[in-house]
Amino acid sequence: MDHSHFDKRKYPIVDVREGYGEWVRNYEQIVQDEMDVRLFERLQSVDWSAAQSILDLACGTGRIGTWLKTRTAAPIDGVDITPEMVEVARAKNIYRSLHIADVFNTGLPAEAYDLCTQSLADEHMPDIKPLYHEVARVTQKGGHFVIVGFHPQFLMAGVPTHFDRASGETVTIRSYVHLLSDHVKAAHAAGWTLLEMDEGVIDDAWLQKKPKWHIYRGTPVSFAMVWHRD
Ligand SMILES: C[S@@+](CC[C@H](N)C(=O)[O-])C[C@H]1O[C@@H](n2cnc3c(N)ncnc32)[C@H](O)[C@@H]1O
Repeated sequence: MDHSHFDKRKYPIVDVREGYGEWVRNYEQIVQDEMDVRLFERLQSVDWSAAQSILDLACGTGRIGTWLKTRTAAPIDGVDITPEMVEVARAKNIYRSLHIADVFNTGLPAEAYDLCTQSLADEHMPDIKPLYHEVARVTQKGGHFVIVGFHPQFLMAGVPTHFDRASGETVTIRSYVHLLSDHVKAAHAAGWTLLEMDEGVIDDAWLQKKPKWHIYRGTPVSFAMVWHRD
């Protein structure tokens, strides 16, 4: 569902490529590791060091690729639709290859990866069914897909993904709400089985960084799911 139905901020809305093409200038200073890295670190069912070949979907500036490099020696490829974000990732020299492509249609070979990741991107996708299908296509049987996302409950509390332009204007990057059950239905239809799930809530660690979010204390803000390719 389009997020505008829940939107309490009512900032002007820009599309993904325009938004991240601008936000790239200070994206890494704004995004908090509490949102996603903390959840990646808590996962129990993934042996990162055993991975042979990894695809980081919607890799952006390479935050997750950087984290993965601390856990595994496996080569990591990245895919993202915003060239400006990919250029930052490229400069880090951590990816074996980087592709400017939509995650729904990566153009990558079938069954090329035993581990796929995606962080903080599904809220920009109008439909997640093609995501789970494409990731299933590029993942070997027995492989894993770790998806971390902006929690639908937090989006429904009225806060979309937004940033301040260089001009100072705050804008929203077009967002959608996918219920957790939408993920389960889409993943099952694409041949995935859920191995593990976790949720991150607004807690003291968050409030130290974002005191204004005290009204959201205890609210789930992000989720992680580990899927197994049957
Ligand atoms: C919030 S950033 C997350 C980047 C990175 N995964 C991280 O955790 O920092 C969202 C990224 O998703 C990308 N994105 C959104 N929709 C996409 C799509 N359909 N295909 C490929 N990339 C997409 C954007 O270009 C952007 O780089």
